[in-house]
Amino acid sequence: MYCRQKITERLFWTGVNDRRKELFENIWPIPYGVSYNSYLIKDDKCALMDTVETGSDRYYLDWIEECLDGRELDYLVIHHMELDHAGEIENLIARYPDVKIIGNSKTFKVLDAYFGKRDNLCEVKDGDMLDLGYHKLKFVFTPWVHWPETMMSYDITDGILFSGDAFGMFGTLDGGVFDDQVDFSFYEDEMRRYYSNIVGKYSSMVQKAFAKLADVNINTICPLHGIVWRKNPSKVISLYDKWSRYEAEEGVVVIYASMYGNTAQMADYIAHQVSKAGVQKIRVYDVSKTHMSYLINDIWRYKGVILGSCAYNMQMFPLMESLTRELEHMGVKNKNLGIFGTYSWNGGGVKNLKEFASRIGWHMVADPVEVHGRPTQEKIAGCDILAQAMAEAVKK
Ligand code: FEO
Repeated sequence: MYCRQKITERLFWTGVNDRRKELFENIWPIPYGVSYNSYLIKDDKCALMDTVETGSDRYYLDWIEECLDGRELDYLVIHHMELDHAGEIENLIARYPDVKIIGNSKTFKVLDAYFGKRDNLCEVKDGDMLDLGYHKLKFVFTPWVHWPETMMSYDITDGILFSGDAFGMFGTLDGGVFDDQVDFSFYEDEMRRYYSNIVGKYSSMVQKAFAKLADVNINTICPLHGIVWRKNPSKVISLYDKWSRYEAEEGVVVIYASMYGNTAQMADYIAHQVSKAGVQKIRVYDVSKTHMSYLINDIWRYKGVILGSCAYNMQMFPLMESLTRELEHMGVKNKNLGIFGTYSWNGGGVKNLKEFASRIGWHMVADPVEVHGRPTQEKIAGCDILAQAMAEAVKK
């Protein structure tokens, strides 16, 4: 009773929905789960496009066998060796020992590292073709989207792109599998959170992949996570294009670290002043309460970022430090930045945030605001200036 989905006469979605895992990559919360997509092409030759995470469905290989309906599996195409997709390769080979494994030289290095030396390897180069009969796959190398070995394949017959992690998202496929079957407004936020946290660091490589695919007519996109795009693939292409160019919306995210509420008060005051200046999309987060992945998602989404930290052991608050380190690691670009904070003795929060600002190179909209002790009205004039400047910057 497997819920495989027919995409075309010869192509099937053979993926798995994972609603048990709490943390993707053991770090990113997935309250709505995630799907590991694989696809089976039944043509003159049969090819499985990637597998799924080990153990995500103990019957996965049985479903593949059922879908093959007595046919031999001729090829396994590996677009990406990360184990959320490569996890069942070893079991698949055990069941189909003659299957030919399609990958590139880098694919096979990692395959060897995980599963040992394997026979029946067919190395492809960028632009090589695989003729399955009706379907003819062209391999397009897309390194660092999101590992060095990643590649896509493009079926030149029907214009189907097997895109790897690109165009993926968090969130299971609850009933519908295709873009015309689901309410995308439910998925968009989780798609951006997936993009910003998993793929975003490699945005320049996403742009390179777009350049390679510029002349290709794409009718359907089959990613390794989330919705299959058959009605309006241009929608997901334009979203990924926008995010990978760091194009953001008019809006401001305020994130603060506060032990006893003083910095939190400043955050609320600044957000209120930004609102009075005419910005409607404003989100305020306590860095200790909300997982970093949601903060990064909104940082990616909005043009304006205002960070506040109390002093903690003469430094910024540890969780704010963790967030800023991750932002630097990801190389997030093109943001307007405001900084604020409080201290009781020697300071450190605002000092560290200023150092972060100089390293990441975002546009500082106003001087940082630092308050000694309680943020009374006479101490926070700088917050008005900061809020006004931020509102003007994001509305440009
Ligand atoms: Fe979905 Fe990079 O693995």
